[in-house]
Amino acid sequence: MLPSRLALTLGASVFSAVAAKWPNHIMNALEHLLVDTDGFNDAGFQKAITPCTNYVSGSQLLGRETAAQWVRVAFHDFATANVQAGTGGIDASIGFETLRPENSGSAMNDSLGFFAPFVNAHVSMADLIALSVVMSVGTCSMPSISIPLRGGRVDATEGGLFGVPEPETDVGTTLGQFKQAGFSQSDAIGLTVCGHTLGSVHHGGFPQVVPESAVTPNNTGGGIHFDATPAAFDVDVLNEYLGWTGQMGGPLVTTDNITVRSDLRLYLSDNNATLQGLAESSDKFIATCVSLLTRMINTTPAAVQLTDIIVPDEVKPVNVSLAVDIAGGVQFSGYIRLLSTAFNASDQVQISWVSRTGASSPLFTTRATGAPVQTGASSMFGTTFYHFFNTAIDPAHGISAFTITVSGHTFSDGGAGYPIQDAAVFLPRETTTAPDGTMNVFAAVLTAAAVHNVTARISAPSPQLGTLSPTIATSEVALRANGTRGRYTLYTAQVPPVPNVRQTTLDLVAGAYHDEFRRIAV
Ligand code: HEM
Ligand SMILES: *[C@@H]1O[C@H](CO)[C@@H](O)[C@H](O)[C@H]1NC(C)=O
Ligand SMILES: *[C@@H]1O[C@H](CO)[C@@H](O)[C@H](O)[C@H]1NC(C)=O
Ligand SMILES: *[C@@H]1O[C@H](CO)[C@@H](O)[C@H](O)[C@H]1NC(C)=O
Ligand SMILES: *[C@@H]1O[C@H](CO)[C@@H](O)[C@H](O)[C@H]1NC(C)=O
Ligand SMILES: *[C@@H]1O[C@H](CO)[C@@H](O)[C@H](O)[C@H]1NC(C)=O
Ligand SMILES: *[C@@H]1O[C@H](CO)[C@@H](O)[C@H](O)[C@H]1NC(C)=O
Ligand SMILES: *[C@@H]1O[C@H](CO)[C@@H](O)[C@H](O)[C@H]1NC(C)=O
Ligand SMILES: *[C@@H]1O[C@H](CO)[C@@H](O)[C@H](O)[C@H]1NC(C)=O
Repeated sequence: MLPSRLALTLGASVFSAVAAKWPNHIMNALEHLLVDTDGFNDAGFQKAITPCTNYVSGSQLLGRETAAQWVRVAFHDFATANVQAGTGGIDASIGFETLRPENSGSAMNDSLGFFAPFVNAHVSMADLIALSVVMSVGTCSMPSISIPLRGGRVDATEGGLFGVPEPETDVGTTLGQFKQAGFSQSDAIGLTVCGHTLGSVHHGGFPQVVPESAVTPNNTGGGIHFDATPAAFDVDVLNEYLGWTGQMGGPLVTTDNITVRSDLRLYLSDNNATLQGLAESSDKFIATCVSLLTRMINTTPAAVQLTDIIVPDEVKPVNVSLAVDIAGGVQFSGYIRLLSTAFNASDQVQISWVSRTGASSPLFTTRATGAPVQTGASSMFGTTFYHFFNTAIDPAHGISAFTITVSGHTFSDGGAGYPIQDAAVFLPRETTTAPDGTMNVFAAVLTAAAVHNVTARISAPSPQLGTLSPTIATSEVALRANGTRGRYTLYTAQVPPVPNVRQTTLDLVAGAYHDEFRRIAV
C-alpha cells in the first residue's frame, strides 16, 4: 500500500503500467532476434543461416546445413506430443533426448549449442526452437515466407515420451504417432514433405539409408539432398517426387534398403493423393506448409499460454532506461528503431515525456544529441533505422510515460504513452564486478516513495546435466541503503558470481515499483 500523498504524485506510473502493451518482455526479446538481423544492434541469430547453405557448427565440407537442422530439431521436439494428455510438443525436452536412437544425427546438439547463449529469463529454449523454424523458412525463401511467431513456451526439466518416427518405422506406427500429436494422415504427409524440402540425409548418422559412396572430400558427412534445392524452402521436393525427376523425393524414397524408405511408405499411404493435392500450385504448397508448421511450433504442453503473434514493430523503443547521477540528476536514454515498411532514413524522430503529475514536456529531437542515425541492414522485414536519445529529466517532476513522434505522427502505445517509472531505478553502469565474479549492484529509489524493502531478483542461465539447454536459476538479494543522491536513496548489495553474466538479468522490486529485465553486464 502506498502512502496517500505519494499515490497522488506517483499514481500515474504505477497504474498505467498494468494496462499498457509495452513492454512485453517475451515479445520484445523475440522480436529483436527475429527482426534485428544485420548491421547496428544485430541480435546475431540469423547469421548462422546466412546464406542458407551455411553450417555454423563445423566445417563447410561436412555437407551439413544449419537452417535444415533447425527445422528437423523442432520436428523431433514436437513429434512426441500427446495432445490428449496435454504433454510434450515444443518444450525443449529434445535436449535431454539426444542419446536416443530416434534422435540420431548431429542436428540436436548442434542447434541447441547455438541457441543456448540466447536463453535468458524471458527467452526459453522452446521459444528459440519455434523461432528457428520461422527464421529458417523465412530466410530460405524468396519472397520471404512468413510463419507467425508466438512466444511463451516453457522448457521441460527432463526428457519426455519416446516415439519420434524413424526411417525403419512402419507407416501405421508413424501415422499413429502423428495422430497422438494432433496431426491427421494428410497433415503428416504434408508436414513431412514440407520439412523435407530442406537439407539432406547423411551417411554420418544414417548409414543404413545413405551408403558410404556418398562420402567425398567436399561432403565428408555424406549428405544426399532431398531435392535439387536443399537450401530453398520450395515446392521442388514435391515436384521431383511426383515427376520422378532430380532427387525423386530423396534418400528416404529412393534408398536401396527397402526397410528405410519411410517417406515412400508415408507418401503412398494414401496413394499420393495428399501430395497431388499440394502440387496444384506452389502457392498451395506454401500455404499448406505455413499452416502445418505453425501448428507444429504451437503444439505445446496444455499449461502453456502463448503470447499474441509477434508483429515486427514499425516504431520500437529499444533499451530505454533511466540513470541517476551522483548529484541526483536523472538521465533518460535509449533508442527508437524505425522499420522501412513504414519509414525511411529521412524521417525525424522526436520524443516527449509526461511528468508524474501528467504534464507533457516539449518535443525532444533525437538527432539533437549529435549522434548519427544508425542504419541497420535489411532483414526479412525491411531495413531498421536507429535513433539515439539521451536527455535530462527534472527529478522534481519525474517521468511516468513517453511518446514518440515520427515526422509529425505521434505513437503512444495505444493511448497513455509508453509507461516508465522513476521511483526505483537499477543502475547497471555503476555495477562493478570483482575478479572472483562477485558483483556490487546499485539502485536508486526515490526517498519520498518510502519503500524500504528493495530487492534484486537475479535470473541467471545455468548449466543443466544431460542437456545443452540452460535452466534459469533465480535468486533474491536484499539491497541496503547507503547514502543519498538528491531526491534518491542509493541502495547496494553484493551478488555472488553467476555462470553467464551476459544473459543474466535483474528485476528490481521496491514495493509496487518494478524495474524489470535489465542486463547486469552492459
Ligand atoms: C515420417 C517422419 C519422418 C522421418 C522418418 C524423418 C527422417 C529423417 C531422416 C532420417 C533425416 C536425415 C537426418 C540426417 O541425416 O541428419 C531427416 C532429415 C530432415 N528432416 Fe525428417 N523425417 C520425418 C519427418 C520430418 C518432418 C515432419 C520434418 C519437419 C517438418 C522433417 C524435417 C527434416 C529436415 C529439415 C531434415 C534435413 C536435416 C539436415 O539436413 O540436417 N522431417 N529426416
Ligand atoms: C537396412 O536397414 C536396416 C534397418 O535399419 C538395417 O538393419 C540393415 O542393416 C540395412 N541394410 C543395409 C544393407 O544397409
Ligand atoms: C564437390 O565437388 C564436386 C566436384 O568438384 C562438385 O561437383 C560438387 O558440386 C561439390 N559439392 C559441394 C557440396 O560443394
Ligand atoms: C506415387 O508417386 C510415385 C512417385 O512419382 C510413383 O512412382 C507411384 O506410382 C505413385 N503411386 C500412385 C498410386 O499414384
Ligand atoms: C521518406 O518518407 C517521407 C514521409 O514520411 C516522404 O515525404 C519522403 O519523400 C521519403 N523519402 C524518401 C527518400 O523516400
Ligand atoms: C521484500 O520484497 C521481496 C520481493 O517482493 C520479497 O520476496 C521479500 O519477502 C520482501 N521482504 C520483506 C522482509 O518483506
Ligand atoms: C548432447 O549434449 C548433452 C549435454 O552436454 C550431452 O549429455 C549429450 O550426450 C550430447 N549428445 C550427443 C548425441 O552428443
Ligand atoms: C557505503 O558506501 C561507502 C562509500 O562508497 C562504502 O565505503 C561502504 O562500505 C558502504 N557501506 C555499506 C554498508 O555498503
Ligand atoms: C541493448 O542492451 C543490450 C543488453 O545490455 C545490449 O547487448 C545491446 O547492445 C543494447 N543495444 C543497443 C542498441 O544499445
